[in-house]
Amino acid sequence: MTPTWAQVVDLAVAVAFILTLKGLSSPRTARTGVRIGSIGALVAVIAVFFATRELNHLPWIIAVIVVGSVIGIVAARRVAMTAMPQLVALFNGVGGGAAAIVAAVEFHVATEKDVLFLTATAFTAAIGSISLTGSVVTFLKLQELMTGRPVVLPGGRFLTIAIALLTLGFAVTVIATGSLPALIGLLIASLILGVLFVLPVGGADVPIVISLLNAFTGLAVAAGGLVLSNTLLLVAGTLVGASGTLLTRMMAQAMGRPLTSTLFGAFTARAAAAGGGGAENRPVRSGTPDDIAIMLGYASKVIIVPGYGLAVAQAQQALREVADLLTARGVSVSYAIHPVAGRMPGHMNVLLAEADVPYDMLAESEVINPEFAATDVALVVGANDVVNPAARTDPTSPIYGMPIVDADRAAQVVFIKRSMRPGFAGVENELLFDPRTTLLFGDAKDALTKVAARLKAS
Ligand code: TAP
Repeated sequence: MTPTWAQVVDLAVAVAFILTLKGLSSPRTARTGVRIGSIGALVAVIAVFFATRELNHLPWIIAVIVVGSVIGIVAARRVAMTAMPQLVALFNGVGGGAAAIVAAVEFHVATEKDVLFLTATAFTAAIGSISLTGSVVTFLKLQELMTGRPVVLPGGRFLTIAIALLTLGFAVTVIATGSLPALIGLLIASLILGVLFVLPVGGADVPIVISLLNAFTGLAVAAGGLVLSNTLLLVAGTLVGASGTLLTRMMAQAMGRPLTSTLFGAFTARAAAAGGGGAENRPVRSGTPDDIAIMLGYASKVIIVPGYGLAVAQAQQALREVADLLTARGVSVSYAIHPVAGRMPGHMNVLLAEADVPYDMLAESEVINPEFAATDVALVVGANDVVNPAARTDPTSPIYGMPIVDADRAAQVVFIKRSMRPGFAGVENELLFDPRTTLLFGDAKDALTKVAARLKAS
């Protein structure tokens, strides 16, 4: 029985978690939100030590907490911003795995096993295991330790369906009989299902699956709360499950595709068309930093379209300097932010906030798109897929239907990128070959620094 003071602490921590989500809804308050959540989680962990009457293996528990904390802190401090999605994937997978282990141990030690307990145990074990192996595969894909393209095994669809049915069969057996071998079978089948579930997802869709698996972990933890009769786990898991589900939906919407197409698209012909390249011999127009500085300096309206390459180059300060120099000359400058520009939600907002770009200069693509027709120059910095008109015009393209930034509707387009390589989706971009497009080849930071120097000199 949980003491009353501990229940009050749980309630306060639950409120802290809700405030965390509220804080995370805006870049301005996100840091405060994260701090509130971290303190809440710390308080919850400390409270467990005082609220639990018989705490066995205390030295082991403390040792594991210390080792886990050190790994977590070092990994989080060292990770590059661009590698954040795979780190989130790993942390998330570990959470799912932990929930599955807790459910299995509780199943082993529990003396009374009613249907609710067995259902919650089966659910936690299955979803937690799927989340663990699924997240490991997304990590391997994003870290480029395996191919990022969809992997379709021979008879993959039927294998996945067969393993899914087997998982369901084991889950029903666990609930009906409370059998330990069935639970072990359930854990193994779910671990395999997690791998099969993520293998066919490729390229640009991987971050969406990370978000979905995050929601899965939340649900597994919530069900774990039922297994352990722990209200706080139930609340925290439900919050993660609900926010992960909403985020998954928003990301799928931003890419203009139903979630089913993200998850199972590789089993159909269209996704197999992903690829591109091969057009690198066609002529393009390239310019020097001087040319670009003149083009920008004499424009009256410039819209900047930042993308993943800006983050790779860490060129946010240099970009801001160019924007400041243009504004000082009387050029109207704003930023078009595509919801999936970069590699995680809000990536561009965070990056530009680091360079103190005022929030009111940033506009969501769907808000600013009508302005491109009256724009002299669209300055595309390290972005590719999010300005690819094939999303509008080519029904055979894997990104067809994704809402894009209408950079192609500006009078002139400047791309700053290092080569003719395609973006994350691996799809060629016709806009690079448009006669109104000028390419400034080079690392974004280097190129923008040179453009800024020319603007200052002129
Ligand atoms: P991408 O289409 O991936 O294009 C990035 C461009 O940056 C590449 O063309 C690359 O060309 C260039 N680049 C890389 N390093 C550079 C550097 N140091 N200096 C200059 N340029 C550099 O990026 P995007 O337009 O931002 O689109 C994001 C993609 O991620 C989309 O496909 C989107 O669907 C996917 N995605 C994002 C999210 C979220 S939530 N953000 C979620 C799911 C999927 P070079 O190699 O030639 O330089």
